[in-house]
Order: sequence, then structure tokens, then C-alpha cells
Amino acid sequence: MSVRKAEKEDLREIAAIAKECLTEPLDEVFFYQEWKENPIATILVYEEEKRILGFLDFYLYFEVASIAQFAVRKREQKRGIGKTLLKAMEEILKKEKDPIWVINAEVRKTNQNAILFYEHMGFQYYDRKPQYYSDKEDALCYYKGVDYEQNSSN
Ligand SMILES: CC(C)(COP(=O)(O)OP(=O)(O)OC[C@H]1O[C@@H](n2cnc3c(N)ncnc32)[C@H](O)[C@@H]1OP(=O)(O)O)[C@@H](O)C(=O)NCCC(=O)NCCS
Repeated sequence: MSVRKAEKEDLREIAAIAKECLTEPLDEVFFYQEWKENPIATILVYEEEKRILGFLDFYLYFEVASIAQFAVRKREQKRGIGKTLLKAMEEILKKEKDPIWVINAEVRKTNQNAILFYEHMGFQYYDRKPQYYSDKEDALCYYKGVDYEQNSSN
């Protein structure tokens, strides 16, 4: 198992996972642009036996990190892969030259699995964005402070 930064060859599989798991999935062209041209984006992948099982695309903007796209293959969920990706992201944040204080995540109001995941991982609800998505569903906003005291091996 490894978590690493995405390479060009991973982008097709990332788009396939997004299609399988997300309500408004972005396509391979988007992920290529994200990977190649978006200076604030980092895409991490979780790989097991040379298969990509999940990815996390996040943005770094001043002292805030935002989870932009995040998904684990349906049949591989609830095995700790999402947690492993999130922890890998947190380790990257701790190594940034300028401190990153907070991680943001927006989630559809009806996405109970993601809400339970974020709450389990220590995120707290702080706001609601009415009709945020193109189908007019509300977004719930969550945040988590970056814990610089926590030992990296935890
Ligand atoms: C959200 C998502 C990425 C979580 O990934 P995952 O690999 O299933 O999560 P993990 O197995 O790493 O779970 C980590 C912890 O959260 C808990 N958890 C995860 N989903 C949960 C749920 N539905 N209910 C209760 N607890 C849950 C796990 O029990 C685990 O707890 P533990 O650390 O005590 O063992 C995954 O469900 C997913 O891809 N969902 C579809 C796409 C999506 O909604 N993305 C988020 C958009 S904002």
C-alpha cells in the first residue's frame, strides 16, 4: 500500500473513481488540468497492488487547505483508505513552510456517509451554503484545525 502524489498515468483511473462515487463527477480533462496547471492543487492517490483505490484532491490557499474532490472506490470504502489519504494530506500540510491552520470540506446535505466520515475524523460543522450545488442541494461546511502537536506516526 502507498499514498503518493498522482502521476499523469493515474488521471484516467481517478476520473473513473470520481464517476463511480461522486454526484457531479469531473472528467479526465478536468483532472489533467488540475494536475498540470492548477498551482494550488495537490492530488494524492491511494495505491494497493498497483491499483488506485482512492484519491484526494486538495487546494492550499494562504493558511487554509480545502478538500476539493475526495473518493474511495465503493467496494473499498470503510477499510480505512479515506482516513489514510486524509492523514497523508495532514502530514503534507505540517511540512509547509508557512503554517496551514485549518482544513475545509464542503459536503452535500444528504451525503450522510461523508458527513459521518468527517465528523468521525474530527471535523466540525460551521456553516451551510444554501443551494450551493447545480441541482440546488445545500452544502454543509466543515472544518478541522491542523494539529501540529500530534506525532506524525499517529
Ligand atoms: C467519504 C469517503 C471518502 C470515506 O472514505 P472511507 O475509506 O470509506 O473511510 P474510512 O474507512 O477511512 O473511515 C475512517 C473512519 O470513519 C468512519 N466512517 C467512515 N464512514 C462512516 C459512516 N458512513 N458511518 C460511520 N462512520 C464512518 C470509519 O468507521 C472509520 O473509523 P475508525 O477510524 O474508527 O476505524 C468515502 O465514503 C467515499 O468515497 N464516499 C463517496 C464520495 C464522497 O462522498 N466524497 C466526499 C465528498 S465531500
